[in-house]
Amino acid sequence: MADQRQEHGGDRERRIAVVLGKKGAGKTTLVRRWVDSYPGSVRALDPAGEFSFGEWPVGEGGKTRRQAISDWLKELTGDGRGNWEGLLILDDSDRYASVVPSEAWTDVYCANRHVGLDVIVTAHRPQGVAKELLANADIVYIFQQDEPLARKYLEKFTQIEGLADLIPTEKGRALVVVHGHPPSELIVF
Ligand SMILES: Nc1ncnc2c1ncn2[C@@H]1O[C@H](COP(=O)(O)OP(=O)(O)OP(=O)(O)O)[C@@H](O)[C@H]1O
Ligand SMILES: [Mg+2]
Repeated sequence: MADQRQEHGGDRERRIAVVLGKKGAGKTTLVRRWVDSYPGSVRALDPAGEFSFGEWPVGEGGKTRRQAISDWLKELTGDGRGNWEGLLILDDSDRYASVVPSEAWTDVYCANRHVGLDVIVTAHRPQGVAKELLANADIVYIFQQDEPLARKYLEKFTQIEGLADLIPTEKGRALVVVHGHPPSELIVF
């Protein structure tokens, strides 16, 4: 598997990054910086219209929004077998993660692991990220999060005791959790 990632993505390892935090915490601002320095093509599922290149598929001809988003993802990932290489941004994922069939999220995961797709997901709550992506995230940025349920969810999910108390309560700060490591640092950007 690791070899396939290298084969398709050059010597750069493809990543899944999840960016969480309350409204206005600074998620999209951080993502914009990554977009500016990304060396390849970028596409975005963008319900709030935050990116000039963002897309928000509409259901046409009797198609539901759920179907339209699912079709958009499946076309982009080639049903998980690959159709496009680059960075996929799933902004404000709370708005559609649970309505899109989990099969489409599995395809995104497969395209990340095998076909050269980088993925960034932003959401207000961890519950708003498809579990196929959150469970496989290489790095999670946790911005300001006031909801006790979300804080507890993150502590349970990371299995890091006391993590809930480390989550920032100020705008613009993030706790960074790297897969397989304890919380690395509190960063300010
Ligand atoms: N580190 C920071 N310090 C101060 N202000 C910031 C910082 N990061 C972002 N901002 C400002 O806060 C506002 C909201 O930022 P941003 O759109 O990135 O938030 P968001 O988390 O994506 O919000 P939403 O959940 O509504 O999408 C913007 O005006 C942005 O310029
Ligand atoms: Mg945003």
